[in-house]
Parts: sequence; C-alpha cells; structure tokens
Amino acid sequence: MKLTSTSVLRIALVSTLVAAGTGAAVLAATSANAATTLAASAAQTGRYFGTAVAAHKLSDSTYVNILNREFDMVTAENEMKMDATEPNQGQFSYGNADRIVNQARAQGKRVRGHALAWHSQQPPWMQRMEGSGLRQAMLNHVTQVATYYRGKIYAWDVVNEAFADGSSGARRDSNLQRTGNDWIEAAFRAARAADPGAKLCYNDYNTDDWSHAKTQGVYRMVQDFKSRGVPIDCVGLQSHFNSASPVPGNYQTTLQRFADLGVEVQITELDIEGSGQTQAENFRRVTQACLAVARCAGITVWGIRDSDSWRASGTPLLFDSGGNKKAAYNAVLEALNAGGTTPPTTTTTTPGGPTGCTAAASVNSWNGGFVATVKVTAGSSAISGWRVTLTLPPGTTVVGAWNAERSGDSGTVDWTNVGHNGSVAAGQSTEFGFQGSGTAEGITPSCATG
Ligand code: G3I
Repeated sequence: MKLTSTSVLRIALVSTLVAAGTGAAVLAATSANAATTLAASAAQTGRYFGTAVAAHKLSDSTYVNILNREFDMVTAENEMKMDATEPNQGQFSYGNADRIVNQARAQGKRVRGHALAWHSQQPPWMQRMEGSGLRQAMLNHVTQVATYYRGKIYAWDVVNEAFADGSSGARRDSNLQRTGNDWIEAAFRAARAADPGAKLCYNDYNTDDWSHAKTQGVYRMVQDFKSRGVPIDCVGLQSHFNSASPVPGNYQTTLQRFADLGVEVQITELDIEGSGQTQAENFRRVTQACLAVARCAGITVWGIRDSDSWRASGTPLLFDSGGNKKAAYNAVLEALNAGGTTPPTTTTTTPGGPTGCTAAASVNSWNGGFVATVKVTAGSSAISGWRVTLTLPPGTTVVGAWNAERSGDSGTVDWTNVGHNGSVAAGQSTEFGFQGSGTAEGITPSCATG
C-alpha cells in the first residue's frame, strides 16, 4: 500500500482473503485526513486513476492543470490509433502521440497504449487490404509501434473491439477477422515480442454485463488464451454508460469473473451520461466495484471535462466544462478514500545471488482453488533459460498452466520456460501461471538459470 504525502490513513486489516473468500486482503481506511486527488486516493489501494488525453488540448492551461493534479495514468484518445501512427504504409508518424507520452512521463505518470489493432480507425490504405497482405501489414504495425514505445507503456490495448454486439457472442466481421480467426493471438504474440515488459490487454465495450453474449464471448477467448499460453495479461472494459446502456447490476461479477482467469482487469474508458446525484451514485458504484476486485488495477475516464467528451452533450465526466469538480467527482473520491481490496501482493520471493534469477509468486484464491502467477526476474545479467521449483501443499493439484512446461501436477513441481520466454534481459521479468485445485498456501518458488 502506497501512502502519499497528502494522505494520512489509519488502516485496519479487517479480514483476510480466506475469510472473505475473495482471494484478497480487505483493507478499511478511516481517513482523518483523506487524500484529495483521484490519483492519490486510488494509490492508497495500489491502483491508478487515469484519463484520456487529446494532444491538441495540451496548450489549454485549465485542462493541463487538472490533468497534472488529478491523474497518474494517461491514454492517448486518438493519437496512437492505426490511422494516426501509420498514415501511409510503412511510414510511421508519432508526433502527437509523443507529445502525450512525453508530457505524461515528464509528470511521472504512466501511459496506456491505445490501440495497436482495430477494425476501425484504420488508415485508408489498410481499409482497402484483405488476406495475407493485410495480416502481414497488421503484424508489422503492431511490431513497429510497440517497438517504438518499448519500455514506456504500462499496458497496450493490443486488440480493440473485435467481438460483435448482439446475441451471437461471436467475433465481429472485419477485414482483420477475415484474415483468419487466429489474428488476435498473432497480434498478442507480436506485441509481446516487441515490448516484453508491457501488459497486454484485450479491450472492448458492451462487455460490462456478465449475462450478455458479447461478454461471454470475450470471456471464452481469454480463457482459451490462458489455457494455451497466448500472452494476454489484462482485459479492458471500456464502460461507456448511458440510459440505453446503464451500469449493470452484475458489473462487479463481470470484473471478478475475468479476474478469476488470472488476468488483470482495467476500466479503460469510463464515462456515464447524466447529472447530479444519480450520475454521482453510478460513478460511485463503478468505483466500488473496481475496489472490491483485487485484480482491478485502475480506472481511466474517457476525458477530463464534459466538454472534452466524445459524448459532450451527455455531460458524462467528472469535471464540468469550466473545469469544476462535479458531484460525480466527489462520489468517486469518497469511494476511493473508503478503501478496498488491494491488488494481489507478492507472497514469496527468493533472493538473487549466483543463480542469476529470482522468482516471486502472487496468488488469487477462492474456496477450493486458486490462480498463481509467478514472476521470474533476471539478475544483473541476461538469462537465456530458467527453471522454477516449488512445492505444492498435500492434496493440491495443478489443473492448467500457461507460459511454462511442468514436470508434474502435484508435490514438488519444476517449471521451465517455453520457447518465447526463456530469454530475459538483465533486471527484466517474465511471468508464467497456473490454476490449481486446493490451496497455494505457503508456496515458495526458487529460480535457477539454464
Ligand atoms: O481532428 C479532426 C478535425 O480536424 C476535423 O475537423 C473533425 C471533423 O470531423 O474531425 C476531427 O477528428 C475527429 C477526432 O475524433 C478528434 O476529435 C474524428 O473525426 C472522430 O472520428 C474522432 O472520434 C474519436 C473516436 O474514438 C474515433 O473512433 C473520439 O474522439 C474518441 O473519443 C473515440 O474513442 C473511442 C475509443 O478509441 C474506443 N472505444 C470507444 C471510444 C468512443 O467512441
């Protein structure tokens, strides 16, 4: 838990994940002197609070003042999209995206990259393409852009909006989809190779209601990717809400179900049309849902002032057009300051030393099962292969794993790298994971190279 200079909190550990059955420690914060900005308040539970930023607004001082004061994560609203970054095939253009990335980083903020591959906002040359030529062009785009920003992006929206609305739960038809159903995983593998330190997300809208076919379709894809070792780390729920598409009653369930697959969940483009207390309560519910889910890493709103929104007439944001805080802002701040679960913490670490790598496990448990994520970090030299050993408690069995080979399903299990994640640069990390039945209590991974 991070405390900022503006926050003085009295934290009471009120229950543990086992008692709560949620897989996370629950923290309650009573605030004598609560944090007073969105970012500082979110940071109290290890989360971020972000906003979409438009490059052409960086000369507006009201806008920049709010940005610098309130937010610690930034997404380029349009400037990293395919049409902006590759306007002509093979000719890349990063000017406006760089302005946003540089401004954010100079202020100590992190950046979400949006979006590497999408059926929409393709440059005209790409819109005209199909088949293997398009597949190649898409993969080249992913590789070039992710390489250009390597090491500067917290999480990439690798693929955006690839599922159809309605009752099918199927992929959306598009020129990219017609290159073959594996286009999404191909994009994720290319992104991992180009920017191995970034989290890789699938991002979509209308995936907030757990009962919707589209949500289920995305869930099945993520489940399939995890079981086959396709490198995916997070799911982005855009969360654009209005009266036709209200915050669903089961929103927290949706966040939790995705999280239970072993991926981080991020609310990536939040806006809620409305006004006054009704709007404020909706924002509060969304914030509380994220705080209740340990793997919900943070919230990004899709713009700063109502007038900055793509749905400006619906006044869906936290600041009014004059830059004043709205009731919705106060509700979010209160909810953040009330505390919540903390994102999974590292439970065990082995020291560095001559073996040249360390391993740390974090565990998300529920009654009878768990997902463990093991982070392998190279020491001061690069490594070209690794082996992690850990002993499972009696009665515990591995039921599925990703990004590593294993020697068995119970007792002492050796995990070795697969082809794409054996080479780790000095000080860098890679992750593998597994799902088990039973408990992961007390697992202590150790790491050796080769
Ligand atoms: O910059 C030009 C301007 O020069 C021109 O005069 C004007 C005329 O239409 O267009 C301006 O560009 C517009 C751009 O926003 C900047 O305002 C584009 O037409 C317009 O299409 C574009 O809309 C963006 C939209 O994505 C495009 O797909 C919105 O700003 C942006 O908020 C929205 O964001 C999307 C996420 O990327 C994905 N999820 C949904 C979300 C909302 O639609």
